[in-house]
Amino acid sequence: MTDTKRKSYYITTPIYYPSAKLHIGHTYCTAIADTIARFKRRAGYDVRFLTGSDEHGQKIERIAKDMGITPLEYTTKIVDGFKHLWEIMNISNDDFIRTTDKRHEKVVQDLFQKAYDNGDIYKGKYTGWYCTPDESFWTEQKLGPNHTCPDCGRPVERIEEDAYFFKMSKYADRWLQFIEENPDFIQPESRRNEMIQFVKQGLEDLCVSRTSFDWGIQVPFDKEHVVYVWFDALVNYISALGPLDDDKSLYERFWPADLHLVGKEIVRFHTIIWPIMLMSLGLPLPKKVFGHGWLIVDGTKMSKSLGNVIDPIPLIETYGSDALRYYLLSEIHLGNDGNFTLPNFVQRVNSDLANDLGNLLNRTIAMIEKYHGGIITKTASEGPYDTDLVKLAEQTVKDYETYMESYELNKALKAVWQFIGRTNKYIDETMPWILAKKQQAGDEARLQAVMYHLAEALRIIAVLVAPVIPTGAPKIWEQLGISGFAEAKLDDVRTWGGLHDGTKVVKGAPIYPRFDMPEMIEAPQADTAKEGAKPADASAVAGKGASATTGESPTAEGQGADNKAGAEQEIPPIKENIEYDDFARLDLRVAEVISCEKVKKSKKLLKFVLNVGVEERTVVSGISQYYEPEEMIGKKVIYLANLAPKKLMGIESYGMILSAFDFADNLEVTQIQSLIPGSLVK
Ligand code: ME8
Ligand code: MG
Repeated sequence: MTDTKRKSYYITTPIYYPSAKLHIGHTYCTAIADTIARFKRRAGYDVRFLTGSDEHGQKIERIAKDMGITPLEYTTKIVDGFKHLWEIMNISNDDFIRTTDKRHEKVVQDLFQKAYDNGDIYKGKYTGWYCTPDESFWTEQKLGPNHTCPDCGRPVERIEEDAYFFKMSKYADRWLQFIEENPDFIQPESRRNEMIQFVKQGLEDLCVSRTSFDWGIQVPFDKEHVVYVWFDALVNYISALGPLDDDKSLYERFWPADLHLVGKEIVRFHTIIWPIMLMSLGLPLPKKVFGHGWLIVDGTKMSKSLGNVIDPIPLIETYGSDALRYYLLSEIHLGNDGNFTLPNFVQRVNSDLANDLGNLLNRTIAMIEKYHGGIITKTASEGPYDTDLVKLAEQTVKDYETYMESYELNKALKAVWQFIGRTNKYIDETMPWILAKKQQAGDEARLQAVMYHLAEALRIIAVLVAPVIPTGAPKIWEQLGISGFAEAKLDDVRTWGGLHDGTKVVKGAPIYPRFDMPEMIEAPQADTAKEGAKPADASAVAGKGASATTGESPTAEGQGADNKAGAEQEIPPIKENIEYDDFARLDLRVAEVISCEKVKKSKKLLKFVLNVGVEERTVVSGISQYYEPEEMIGKKVIYLANLAPKKLMGIESYGMILSAFDFADNLEVTQIQSLIPGSLVK
């Protein structure tokens, strides 16, 4: 099913060792590749995206032996776990290659034979060192202190055995010339410089077969030998395309690969050994190898022995795969290491997905239903703020595309979230709740225009965010009442105004729930992470009441009314001094308004749900004359958290939102611009 008119794009992840369950470091790598693959499909490319498993080698053979099962029984079980993980991560790979697949084994044997036939493989004896966890050979001179692997620091083993060698040394100059002519082949640049230094120090011939164990692909012309696991594994990128099949269309369409995405510690294998193998075989080289950084927990790379391995499955079960994908991709600049901490993760997911994006959708759909019975009327962009929004929308698509094309995924997302922020601000600027009162001629037409602009902004946003949050993005179009999201392309959102007149919105559940902040500050093990958070839905909020201290706003029904003494009243003198300790007893903090509605049968009261950093609180406040509920959503206010609770109109109210008021009946809620919920006021 290849379309020859479209440009092809072939992207691969490393194939993972089934020596252990995958942790979120592996998830990071695959999520990056999936996001790029999904972006390229939206950008109109004919995409092929490959991942898989690297099942041979001494390490796997030893684990299986210890467990008393065959290596294939062992790897099959683990590989089933990989496939399950990629499914729940919503990974869109087109193929999954196992190095134990017959289709792979025959290509490895074919290429090994060809390299032998052309004189680049010869027989000898290997005497030297081997790092079994990394499956890499080392000479005495390159070792770390006390006979350790210079890459990973673990002890190496001495080996002495008959082996076939591959003439790497012969290609050193050709390699250096290739890198000079293709300066973008190795990304980022720092990795490229490391590799150039490595080759300039001298390339030795590579040992490419082993005889001291059996778990590998047999050397076709010598059954005593199995192919060295890296010579076997790297071939997966080609073997998955079926180059020896009768139908060679996949191979012809997709080789050479456009991008091998790999972790930084295996850049050497992908940028030196693999290209030289291909040079020897006379095959085209991949266009780019990108070495991404590591996901670090508590400042160190995840490792079983340190006990800081985070299992992605409980995280996904609790927070959803979009949340994990969004966090990993938006937090880390591709190429750099990134730190994972659970509180930061929950904070980002709540603020960016639930608040910024989720609330924008909720508010927009709710207003279109309330004001126009769910029907969107197409309008021109003539009002104040309209052209500003339209310009930014079109610029955002351009910036996003530029960043995505250069694999600066976090910058692409930042550009989109700036546009989401701008759209939320458009609501505050245009004040639809005032327009809805229809006090002036033209208010209704303006209200229609505002609703159209919000819906059209969301139509565009959905396509841009789809590569990174593929589970939630389609729901945006569903709620807007637009069909065909799966096929939507970047071209469909480049210019403003694609949303049709008469589209009918369909209200749905919030696309991203909010989560309670986990109690522990340091990054936990994944199994404790699961207990650390629950979706903060209405029932969770209600359940919180007992432990929370609460109270009444002074502007609620009571004291606020007494202050209507008239504009001529003097500003009161400053009150008697208090001790700092008296003040310090107040728990004042920043809180963000999650929802706000009028209290039924009350003229003055608004009911708020606030994110106060550690949990959600319900507060009733008597400011209904001053603010429309829609207007309050997303605002960050100053909140007194430890005021005793009080029931108002049958609603238990916890704490109080601070406002300032003058004596002419004006009131303003105090607001904070950029600090996060839970920030302390002192
Ligand atoms: O190396 N953060 O497999 P592998 C980010 N089979 N990425 C990480 C990571 C972390 N904490 N830990 C691991 C192999 N990775 C070979 C590849 S390809 C022909 C053969 C990444 O299972 C790591 O950087 O040890 C690597 O890219 C990938 O997971 C697979 O590691
Ligand atoms: Mg590794």
